[in-house]
Amino acid sequence: MTDKNNKFETDAIRTQFSTSAAKEHSVPLYLSSSFIYDDAERMRAAFAAENNDFIYSRFSNPNSNELVNKMCKLEGAEAGYATASGMAAVFSSFAALCNSGDEILACRSVFGSTHTVFTKILPRWNIETRYADIDDLASWDKLVTEKTKLLYLETPTNPGVEVVDLKFAYNFCKRHDLIFVVDNCFATPYLQKPIRFGADLVIHSGTKWIDGQGRVVGGIIVGRQNLIDDIYAFCRSTGPAISPFNAWVLSKSLETLAVRMDRHSSNALALATYLEAHPKVERVLYPFLKSHPNYAIATQQMSQGGGIISFFLKGSLHNGQQFLNAIQMCSLTANIGDSRSIVTHPASTTHAKLSIEERMAVGISDNMIRVSCGLEHIDDIIADIDQALQASSL
Ligand SMILES: Cc1ncc(COP(=O)(O)O)c(C=O)c1O
Repeated sequence: MTDKNNKFETDAIRTQFSTSAAKEHSVPLYLSSSFIYDDAERMRAAFAAENNDFIYSRFSNPNSNELVNKMCKLEGAEAGYATASGMAAVFSSFAALCNSGDEILACRSVFGSTHTVFTKILPRWNIETRYADIDDLASWDKLVTEKTKLLYLETPTNPGVEVVDLKFAYNFCKRHDLIFVVDNCFATPYLQKPIRFGADLVIHSGTKWIDGQGRVVGGIIVGRQNLIDDIYAFCRSTGPAISPFNAWVLSKSLETLAVRMDRHSSNALALATYLEAHPKVERVLYPFLKSHPNYAIATQQMSQGGGIISFFLKGSLHNGQQFLNAIQMCSLTANIGDSRSIVTHPASTTHAKLSIEERMAVGISDNMIRVSCGLEHIDDIIADIDQALQASSL
């Protein structure tokens, strides 16, 4: 069933690789490195891309195809490619689209490993990145040179949950003829569709909300056919392909994305509202709290606020450690987007590789705590956070 007018939930469930002769209901795992042909002519045509026959699982595979087709429908994209991790999707996009001497313009708040790619890896091929401040949009024009190739942004950002105005970013890219790339990992296509706002490419870490249960690592890039063609050509020869098993898990998980994101978002809004009124909390950042600096933009471009909250404890790093040590139910782990609520301290973990100055520039102070709000009952999530706050001495 592939009706163009299907709703999100239906496409997420009913986009399926064609049924085999066994007539299975649930798509099987295609654990095959290569694929066979009836004759030499058919094989020649496959290699010449004159048909859509599979060749080799580094290039494509029925399981990765299903995931890609589904994500294209959910994001409204023309084409895509699935990778072994979110970082493989991020790196492959830059490596495929940028040449030596090109520049990237990126929002200052990006995931820690993406920052490492910008500052340590791409410069080895003479690709430099300039950082733009999302609180000073007027300053962006000055950062563009004739070498600038693309604009890269996350919204909401990790871990500051800042919201970048997608309409502004699209008009900016049009004015300067830049490829517009959005990491949509925090929102997922259920809550935000950057392509509707004019993005050329959308990147995901499937490891987060798409899996939703913290089991597998994977990534995906979707967007304009011509750009995906270049990314595919790069990936086909360099090998960051997703495994069929991980693609199968992620595709099955997408079937429940909508119901999960509804609950993640309502739990997170309830927790954020509770934290905002707590005497031991200095400040809370959540896109759908009226106090968020970009509340108006967030509510225009997202349908709900998503599952991530960042908040600042009153006091020092010591109080943050006391808080984390007192947590009983929530997990202390690096991932996000799990059915289990997760509490982390970005300054000492995911963003520890940034210098103090770099951390301060993106608002990651020592007293910042990030919560990935899970699917446990909201009363139990609040009760755990509440008892940990009571235990931290302020
Ligand atoms: C916003 C964002 N982009 C990309 C990544 C990288 O994804 P992966 O861990 O799947 O490589 C992450 C991981 O946390 C992330 O939070």
